[in-house]
Amino acid sequence: MSEPIVTDYLVIGSGIAGLHFANLASAHGKVIVVTKKAPDDTNTNWAQGGVAAVLGDDDSLERHVEDTLVVGDGLCNRAVVEMTVREGPEQVRRLLEYGVRLAHGDDGKLDLTREGGHSRRRVVHHEDITGREIQRALLEATRKNPQITLLDDHIAVDLLSMAKYGGEPACFGAYVLDRDAGEVKTILARATVLASGGAGKVYVYTSNPDVATGDGIAMAYRIGAVVSNLEFVQFHPTVLFHPHAKSFLISEALRGEGGKLRLASGERFMDAYHPLAELGPRDVVARAIDNEIKKSGADSVFLDMTHLDADFVRGRFPNISERCLALGIDMTKQPIPVVPAAHYMCGGVKVDDVGRTNIRGLYAIGETSSTGLHGACRLASNSLLEGMVFAARAADDVRDVESVRPRQVAPWSSGHATDSNDAIVVTLNWDEIRRFMWSYVGIVRTDKRIDRARSRIELLREEIKQYYWDFKIDSDIIELRNLALVAHLIIESARRRKESRGLHYTLDYPDKDPAPHDTDLHLTDGPPAA
Ligand code: SIN
Repeated sequence: MSEPIVTDYLVIGSGIAGLHFANLASAHGKVIVVTKKAPDDTNTNWAQGGVAAVLGDDDSLERHVEDTLVVGDGLCNRAVVEMTVREGPEQVRRLLEYGVRLAHGDDGKLDLTREGGHSRRRVVHHEDITGREIQRALLEATRKNPQITLLDDHIAVDLLSMAKYGGEPACFGAYVLDRDAGEVKTILARATVLASGGAGKVYVYTSNPDVATGDGIAMAYRIGAVVSNLEFVQFHPTVLFHPHAKSFLISEALRGEGGKLRLASGERFMDAYHPLAELGPRDVVARAIDNEIKKSGADSVFLDMTHLDADFVRGRFPNISERCLALGIDMTKQPIPVVPAAHYMCGGVKVDDVGRTNIRGLYAIGETSSTGLHGACRLASNSLLEGMVFAARAADDVRDVESVRPRQVAPWSSGHATDSNDAIVVTLNWDEIRRFMWSYVGIVRTDKRIDRARSRIELLREEIKQYYWDFKIDSDIIELRNLALVAHLIIESARRRKESRGLHYTLDYPDKDPAPHDTDLHLTDGPPAA
């Protein structure tokens, strides 16, 4: 049994928020970053659009604030929106300091693109692979930093809580499975920072990578953290529809540069749904596409770029056009078949304006968190921005966090667990959850559908619980356990919202409640966490 590893700060996740935090916090302590696969297996690495910030001469902080509030549909925290927008330009400067190669125009200024819901061009980007470029630069900085230890192929199992030792709830690190060694390590930290991204894999169709299983949200909930607004799952309107294109996003920036949505007949339809047509808020566009697909029985709608200059399209979207071409779609000559897919979790672990949860010593930043910025629907490219702003604020705050931990920390024990001879349970449950979540708690909901999902998840969670305790853990069962809990929390949150607002649309309550409210869940009033 190995001795506990002691550090100042433990970061779980290696996307933009986790690595930015690690680099800043390393100025005043030692940092361990654990990441469950390769360090660039992150949602950040897959982000295409960019980072929204007020940098254009025709733009203003007030406009960015207003656009965020409008898309958030009455549920954003105005103070958080104002603060995040105000600190945006500074974070873009930091990206440049890391060496991120943001696109510049012929005039030498940063090139600003546009996306849905934005009234101005304000999204800085690197071609159509902004996330990949940010991930590259942040990883380079992280690897050069002697204060940071990056442990890949390490998946967190559970957070360590003083409540288990008879104390007040406080987090002092985590049990972490070293996947190669098959050994669970105990990592002790003054502050533990959840930066593990979202939970797109709860749905069968998603733009997210396989790692997006909601681990941070599930672990936080299990030790008593409040989670908020999990019913607001953002479905991206345009993911490539092709049997061989798993999860490939067709960036909203294509519509920002003039792309039009069409039916198979060639007819445009978005004018009927929103005055901004293709550039309306994401929830409206995704619902419109879902409706048109259901009405016509077609497999997809189409995103048409063929009226734009072919050289411009190839030059501005080199990655997307290459990927489409490899699948036989020349986007300069033919429209791209697209469908909506789960993309981003607008809710998460509830935090204050420096990323602190209600559990002492536990922080959440980036997509794992619920800061109040996104409300009921996130404005495009506000996510990387939020990740950076809150990473910087949390890094400042953790400086003085005091260490709280028991004198003797119990090592991980697998009890009487044996090697599994029934791994098929994991595969089948994984598949079932993702399919019924898509059908019953997807873009258009009803009470009946949500109740159906609820009875299924309860049965499955019982089965998963049994499996979890009977057999030795591996990353598959850890992820499934988390995924099932997050599915449960999404269902419970959706049940509690008796209105349609932003991304939560239910045929049973089509109107908005006059009094906006958050859906907060906690162990004492939510479902059990096992
Ligand atoms: C996109 O490029 O369409 C995604 C941007 C985002 O999710 O903010």
